[in-house]
Amino acid sequence: MATVGKTETSDIAVHWKEEGYVQPPAKFVGQANLADPSIADRFSLENFPECFREYADMLSWDQSWHTTLDTSHPPFWKWFVGGKLNACYNCVDRHLPKHKNKAAFIFVPEAETEPTYTLTYQELYVRVNETAAVLRDFCGLKPGDRVTIHMPMILELPITMLACARIGVTHSVVFGGFSGEAAGTRAADSGSTVMIYADAYYRNGKLIDHKASADIAVKTAAAEGVTIDKVLVWRRRDGEDLSNTPMVPGRDFYMEELLKNYRRVKVAPVSVDAEHPLFLMYTSGSTGKPKGCQHRTGGYLAYVTATAKYYQDIHPEDVYWCMADIGWITGHSYIVYGPLSLGATNVLFEGVPNYPDAGRPWRIAEQLDVNIFHTSPTAIRMLRKAGPNEPQKYNYHFKHMTTVGEPIEPESWRWYHEVVGKGEAVIVDTWWQTETGGFLITTKPALDPMKAGSAGPAALGIFPVIFDEAGNEIAAGSGRAGNLGIRNPWPSIMQTILNNDDRFVQQYYAKFCKNPKSTDWRDWPYFASDGAVLAADNYYRILGRVDDVINTAGHRLGTKEIESACLTVPQVAEAAVVPVVDEIKGRVPAIYVALKPGVTDTKQVTEDIIRAVETMIGKIARPKGVHIVADLPKTRSGKIMRRILAAISNRVDTGDVTTLANPEIVEQIRKQVQGDGPVDLQDAPEDIKRFGEQE
Ligand code: WTA
Repeated sequence: MATVGKTETSDIAVHWKEEGYVQPPAKFVGQANLADPSIADRFSLENFPECFREYADMLSWDQSWHTTLDTSHPPFWKWFVGGKLNACYNCVDRHLPKHKNKAAFIFVPEAETEPTYTLTYQELYVRVNETAAVLRDFCGLKPGDRVTIHMPMILELPITMLACARIGVTHSVVFGGFSGEAAGTRAADSGSTVMIYADAYYRNGKLIDHKASADIAVKTAAAEGVTIDKVLVWRRRDGEDLSNTPMVPGRDFYMEELLKNYRRVKVAPVSVDAEHPLFLMYTSGSTGKPKGCQHRTGGYLAYVTATAKYYQDIHPEDVYWCMADIGWITGHSYIVYGPLSLGATNVLFEGVPNYPDAGRPWRIAEQLDVNIFHTSPTAIRMLRKAGPNEPQKYNYHFKHMTTVGEPIEPESWRWYHEVVGKGEAVIVDTWWQTETGGFLITTKPALDPMKAGSAGPAALGIFPVIFDEAGNEIAAGSGRAGNLGIRNPWPSIMQTILNNDDRFVQQYYAKFCKNPKSTDWRDWPYFASDGAVLAADNYYRILGRVDDVINTAGHRLGTKEIESACLTVPQVAEAAVVPVVDEIKGRVPAIYVALKPGVTDTKQVTEDIIRAVETMIGKIARPKGVHIVADLPKTRSGKIMRRILAAISNRVDTGDVTTLANPEIVEQIRKQVQGDGPVDLQDAPEDIKRFGEQE
């Protein structure tokens, strides 16, 4: 196994120039929620874990907790033990006395000709109650049951999530852009018997028939032994049938019709234990099957509420817009639970950022006077390419902007700061993961200077560490890259992988656990699967995944999942998927396949492979290239050397290949992919260099 610890300082220095500090604007500092520097002392290591009481105190509890952190069964930490609360109550009911008439959501449809729609907290309360009544009384769902929600970005998505939370049902939202198969597999793994859909939605000016996915999902779940009894379907437009897919009698029900029987019904929020699972979020890891990350109610809600307040600086009077999709963790934590718990006004946008043109986001910002904006480096790169001068045409003013999900290169960061933010906004580059529930590395916007390309220092109460492969700590300022870990537990760390405690331990803790018998959290650092470098000023620069996950446009794709999809094409004998650097999306997958003997129609096979990937996962996994090769490079024991294929796709030195079982194939594939002429070898980013080394 190659090791990152061996990476020389000189290697890193080649593509890492230390950037200067940018100070937050005085106007921002003057109004910030977090402006008192003494907070760092309150969250020092000596005050861990009790420091997090301050976060829990931001919530309304039905019964207070007696133990902040229980470590008796590592690494299955328990937070705020003994406490009881309801997440929906915290996000909705508690705002009514003072703010019932305030906008909770402003829905912006994709079509600019369709008017925006405002939902007040009172209206949200009414709709969530009626929806909860359908789930409880019509579907018979009870606390602890799991429900799969496969919906696009429409108001009914957060309404359905909150309705689940109200009655203690654990929701599992699957990103709307995933295929029916992907939703069905996840529904089966979670043991859902109810799935919730929308009939249709708009994307890039087209109406997408989403109900069609429901039929595929139910069939897929059935093939995996799980029966979906009921499919509830929200209509994108009341009273109109936008989908051509027929309803299945006795199984499919329009919510619009069911709700008629539950008008004005109130459903008391069910007070659940702090450890009660609030939701599942499936994500890709290093095996073929996506894993269900399970998040608790109390610790999660406390952490996302406090971090939305401190790092995103959300005040009730702000207009906040996170352009992510609710179907990802960013949307769960920083559209739904964090902001609503703070009583924010949230913009919910149905469309894509550059449709009909790259001025759309800035028109929305101007029209709604958005002052906090949150997006991904991919969206920033895309908008910059399509309309570098668009932002200055519009009269909006952001005080705060977030970037999340992928490393951002300093050049894009500067455009975001100077052109999108007009030099007036503070930027936080927040590093975190589906598993971590909330931000773990970020600047404190009024207190720490920004540094382009660096996520920043650790968040309050978080103590990261960088390990080499042998588990030795790499010191700040050494210039050496290593594996990012977190020394301590925190309230929003996932509880486990659903139905797979063992994999949870193996994936996140086994690698750097100092003593598996210990009940001291200090012996159980969390392994993040990201590479990072720690500068002398304690700012972290994130280098990307060190496992076989490809981060494409901020979305996590498992290479093994894509390979499994390729292998469903009968002509394919072997498949290997590798990441390729892409100017806009960060990384994209490239596919290498060897065919069974005698197959000749490679054009047809290529089409079938692309179709298989799109139907089993979704369009987001569409490969950049499909290379049909005579054989894949293998070790003498028969292991496919994905590292070499990644080197070829990224025009990087393939290194020594003489020990392979079939060394001659490397040059053959290289010529096929790169052409016969001379090739300018590139210096690879850290994740490309390390790709495949874990095998
Ligand atoms: C990457 C998204 C650089 C990282 C919240 C991580 C980042 C993966 C950043 C998690 C950032 C996230 N800078 N890389 N600020 N934030 N990542 O689970 O590789 O969809 O492991 O969660 O995104 O992706 P996930």
